[in-house]
Amino acid sequence: MNAEAWKKVEEAVAASRNTTIKQLFEHDPDRARKYTISAAGWTLDYSKNRVNAAVMKALRGLAEASGLKDEIERMFTGEKINRTENRAVLHTALRNVDPEAKVFVDGKDVMPDVRATLSKMGEFADAVRKGVHRGFTGKRIKYVVNIGIGGSDLGPVMANIALTPFGKRSIKCFFVSNVDSTHLAETLREVKADQTLFIVASKTFTTQETMTNALSAREWLVGRLGSEAAVAKHFVALSTNAAEVAKFGIDVENMFGFWDWVGGRYSLPSAIGLSLMIFVGPRNFARLLKGYWKMDRHFRTAAFEKNLPVTLALLGILYSNGYGAESYAVLPYDQYLSRFPAYLQQMDMESNGKCVDRDGRRVNYSTGPVEWGEPGTNGQHSFYQLIHQGTHLIPCDFIGFARTHNPIGDHHDKLMANFFAQTEALAFGKTADECRAEGDPEELVPFKTFEGNRPTNTLLAEELTPETLGALVALYEHKVFVQGVIWNIYSFDQWGVQLGKVLAKNVLKDLTAEKPELRHDSSTNALIARYRKALGR
Ligand code: F6P
Repeated sequence: MNAEAWKKVEEAVAASRNTTIKQLFEHDPDRARKYTISAAGWTLDYSKNRVNAAVMKALRGLAEASGLKDEIERMFTGEKINRTENRAVLHTALRNVDPEAKVFVDGKDVMPDVRATLSKMGEFADAVRKGVHRGFTGKRIKYVVNIGIGGSDLGPVMANIALTPFGKRSIKCFFVSNVDSTHLAETLREVKADQTLFIVASKTFTTQETMTNALSAREWLVGRLGSEAAVAKHFVALSTNAAEVAKFGIDVENMFGFWDWVGGRYSLPSAIGLSLMIFVGPRNFARLLKGYWKMDRHFRTAAFEKNLPVTLALLGILYSNGYGAESYAVLPYDQYLSRFPAYLQQMDMESNGKCVDRDGRRVNYSTGPVEWGEPGTNGQHSFYQLIHQGTHLIPCDFIGFARTHNPIGDHHDKLMANFFAQTEALAFGKTADECRAEGDPEELVPFKTFEGNRPTNTLLAEELTPETLGALVALYEHKVFVQGVIWNIYSFDQWGVQLGKVLAKNVLKDLTAEKPELRHDSSTNALIARYRKALGR
């Protein structure tokens, strides 16, 4: 992190530290307008934060000193900014809906391949939706089972739930990710083999969980339909690895490809989105891409003070590095966004969960926060107590929509009343005097007082649509990118997941071998022995 620019942020924070959010509002009646910006169908009100003009200026100075403008261009133009894997980072090319656009990697324009894959996906999705592509016995496809994990699962599952109102309800989508056989078994109980399409989604096509689930699903299907030939009609693959797809026994004709410059957690707008496209149709998928693209353009061109991803990123850095906040809550007030926090967890924590800077040195500042959340109003009756009165500072993003897809009575007004009231309560709290004025007995006053001064962002759009969803995802993707640039870490690799994978292979041998080697520590050895004993091995 640029030390000089960060020092200026610290100075600005020190000068304003004793001014509460409440006082900031009292001093400036025009505050809400000044701290509200909009793009791609979204409005961000960040006025309920511990910031004034000087703090924001210093934060933007930090972004500039970090070379953010150039880094953004490097990403969009296909430079190999993922240095530890020597790859470009071009998820933005996947949703570049400009028909004239050209984006080069190693001197080759990638856009023709992007467009060709999209149209192959579109043809296949339509064929499934219209009953042209049928199962081995001639029946229509009624069930789609996406088998994948991490980025090959969380994006599709989040978006399938989010875009339910736009989906074809006669097609039911399932998502199997966990290697726990329960996940597959319970899913297979819900579907009929002759009407099921399995989509094996894996960038590498070597991921243990996905391959194990895919092989078991294949065995189940062949067993039910009585022929290996059924696989061709019931299995497709989404991958960058044609050789492994062929080895698995899926004809590469039935493969939808993508490229090493698409990170797993950024892959929803690639072929990985096929299950979503089948569910909502190619036109709605195109609208999703358009929403992403609008936010991409905004991010690339808007000045930092008007830039939503940059502003969200800077506020996150303020709390992580200036106020020692360790976690960050994302609270969507829409049941359709129930998996959005889980999706963001991978996007943010796998990207910025790093302790070494771009020069390979241990950083001496905090990087990516712990990210978590649940839809409102459920969370209010669970963990909000801690956000209001606990000892941890937890900045929150509140995400909501003016219109609901399911207007029943006054549900939506009540939902949104809670949405607005929570940020009000968190910012302004309730003083001891206010408690007394309401007649609270003196001994209860400390317990009923709310300190307030708890920061929130409010993100509001008119309606949850494919476009607003695409823009929302892109907003957070770019926020994470900006933070990675400022923290001077590499956001697009994930070496931290490797060690566990390697050790699990060794442990697996010891669980199943007739004579285990048991060359682990005493705890792991004893646990393995106990497991084997329980199974009579
Ligand atoms: O283990 C982490 C990870 O590599 C993620 O980054 C990725 O999204 C997930 O596994 C699945 O990988 P794949 O799509 O190659 O199966």
